[in-house]
Amino acid sequence: MIITESVAEIESKLIEMRAAGAKIGFVPTMGALHPGHLSLVERAKKENDKVVVSIFVNPTQFNNPEDLKKYPRMPEKDFELLRSLDTDLVFFPEEKEIYPEGGPSKSDFDFGNLELIMEGKFRPGHFKGVGQVVSRLFEIVEADKAYFGEKDFQQVAVIRELVRQKNFKTEIISCPTIREPDGLAMSSRNLLLSKEMRIEAVKISQALYYIRDHREENELSVIKSKAIAMIEDSGNLKVEYLEIVDAKTLTPVIHWSDSETLRCLAAVQAGNIRLIDNVQLH
Ligand code: PAJ
Repeated sequence: MIITESVAEIESKLIEMRAAGAKIGFVPTMGALHPGHLSLVERAKKENDKVVVSIFVNPTQFNNPEDLKKYPRMPEKDFELLRSLDTDLVFFPEEKEIYPEGGPSKSDFDFGNLELIMEGKFRPGHFKGVGQVVSRLFEIVEADKAYFGEKDFQQVAVIRELVRQKNFKTEIISCPTIREPDGLAMSSRNLLLSKEMRIEAVKISQALYYIRDHREENELSVIKSKAIAMIEDSGNLKVEYLEIVDAKTLTPVIHWSDSETLRCLAAVQAGNIRLIDNVQLH
């Protein structure tokens, strides 16, 4: 496994690999790897000849400086995990490699309404930052396929829009959310939860499954309010948003019959840690 911080080095390795006819799979991450990330790497290994994983905590997508400061960083452990999966190349750049002077700025990215709703509404500028870093990484890696988790469902939609706008040749593969045994969606931020909040956090997926399994029983607004109450019942968790949307356009719906494929997305504040999750309803 080659670990490099340098754009020039990763580009030259990739040129060699492509010259030998290899198909390249790419998994962008911010590190603190868990089985959710590793499921993407495993899938990429199956579907490509060589796999590149990037680890870069991208400052431009953090709207809250505290969140950036406390974001877990454990590169040595990450390298170990990636080595155990036979990852070929790990790109672990410093900020100046990713953002050299004169490159496109965050404000050059525009995803319209997609960046203003749900996550975008509560994290202003977040998706511009995601677009900025993924665009740069895609230009460096030029992968055949890139792998993203449905855990960040709105992010996948933004990335697909980025690919459309920039005409990237990389195919986007979205992969199912990996969960803890009690249902909590795996996330690097789960490491930061207090013991008490970790126990409480299970209510998020429970409420989403409640909506999925009881949607025939009452109007959408009634089921939605019940789910929010389930999450907030003990006063420890606070729902930022819980939206039922068309899975393709991400526009909110009013009635169950408003769309063929519905998805429920939520963001919840657990103490000072923000958690997101989503499930397919039908
Ligand atoms: P990060 O949060 O590290 O996630 C990297 C990838 O792992 C994302 O595609 C994310 O959706 C996926 N992932 C996270 N938790 C998962 C889970 N429980 N099951 C399945 N997949 C999961 O998302 C980012 O980093 C950044 O925004 C990035 C795309 C790297 C740009 O900086």
